[in-house]
Amino acid sequence: MSTLWHGRFEGGPAEALQALNDSLPFDRRMFREDIAGSRAHATMLADVGLLTVEERNAVIAALEQVETEFAEDRFETVPSDEDIHTAVERRVTEICGDPGAKLHTGRSRNDQVATDVRLWTRGAIDEIIDLVLGFQATLLGHAEQAGGAYLPGYTHLQQAQPVSLSHHLLAHGWALARDVDRLFDARRRTDVSSLGAGALAGSSLPLDPVRTAELLGFAGVFENSLDAVADRDFVLDTLYALAVLGVHLSRIGEELILWASEEFGFIGLDDGFSTGSSMMPQKKNPDIAELARGKAGRLIGHLTGLLTTLKGLPLTYNKDMQEDKEPLFDGIDTVRLTLLALDGMVSTLTFRTDRMAESASSPYAAATDLAEFLVSRGMPFRQAHAVVGEKVRRALAGEASLADLVANDDQLGPEAAGLLEPGVSPHRRTTRGAGGRTAVASQLDRFRAQLARDQARTSQ
Ligand code: ARG
Repeated sequence: MSTLWHGRFEGGPAEALQALNDSLPFDRRMFREDIAGSRAHATMLADVGLLTVEERNAVIAALEQVETEFAEDRFETVPSDEDIHTAVERRVTEICGDPGAKLHTGRSRNDQVATDVRLWTRGAIDEIIDLVLGFQATLLGHAEQAGGAYLPGYTHLQQAQPVSLSHHLLAHGWALARDVDRLFDARRRTDVSSLGAGALAGSSLPLDPVRTAELLGFAGVFENSLDAVADRDFVLDTLYALAVLGVHLSRIGEELILWASEEFGFIGLDDGFSTGSSMMPQKKNPDIAELARGKAGRLIGHLTGLLTTLKGLPLTYNKDMQEDKEPLFDGIDTVRLTLLALDGMVSTLTFRTDRMAESASSPYAAATDLAEFLVSRGMPFRQAHAVVGEKVRRALAGEASLADLVANDDQLGPEAAGLLEPGVSPHRRTTRGAGGRTAVASQLDRFRAQLARDQARTSQ
């Protein structure tokens, strides 16, 4: 078998070495990026006079043929195809001969792989951003439809203050807006070319890294060749953005699981997006939401795994860095699958607003409104808290209903008792970002505007 380094070595590689070392089984999915990088490199080599125009054309035609072979799944590998870079170059040289042997001029797999991964990641981030924006639109649609529906708001998973359903849905929407922003951030740091750094030190040949960066549509180009081949921060940035997004999807999943339970009964699931039990005929399970919760674990694992891989590496490239791709690919695949399924589940579920209202209508849920009522009449808040607290304690002890105790109180009275009527409290909170109807109406406007801005950013 002829390796890339056969000149220096007498024997071929051991089977165990190859089995551990080969990355083609997983990095072949970057074939388009590898070929795009080679096309740009060959074009630049011709621009600076290191390839003739005929040689460049021969290489580019061969690259096109290899791309088709991969795309049609008829690329034939040979045992020496260690990774996608080796495989493409070997085949190009087979097809076009000597010009192919010039393709690697001034280039190393070290700058090549960094460039390929950057290209791949840039495209993957764009795809994930689109999916997150789609899911946000689903939440927005529900929030627009929710009208005056309200449910208990929770802290410590104890009923705290009732909030409108739109408000609750938009809370998740805003968290996802930060995910979109984080993904754009990761994209910005990904969008820098490494091509032209060589193995680590640049080149004595008149290469033009700015030209290849331009040809590949990168927004920037590396500043330091050592850093260019050693840097995988952009993969970490991406994995971090995916992990936080995964945590948000997990928290949404957890709520959907609670809400779909008999005990809450806040939502009904569409048959197409829920599963049954092999034994218990009555069951309808929220598997998608559970998997959204479960998948967050591996996304966090991918981030911590790669951080750990990178932390001890001296400059510059080390083979450990080949471990960047599987977590990255799996992270993107995992988030893609999860977003698609969760979006389907959420867009088809039905809200049981009667159950929500019923459970948010305990008079105790309006206790804070009573205290605020007293404050608006001039009482210091601490005192108001104590006055209402005393009524709650007496009502809980069975002395009378809270409404009666409030109505008969000198300072509270019948007007305050009106606040305990179901559905009154949630819409009284009118401050910016609050959960009442009027505040939510302007929040909806701001959310729509944010979504439109993010959608516009994707096409820039
Ligand atoms: N397959 C390698 C990787 O994914 C490509 C770079 C190999 N470079 C080297 N000098 N062995 O990282």
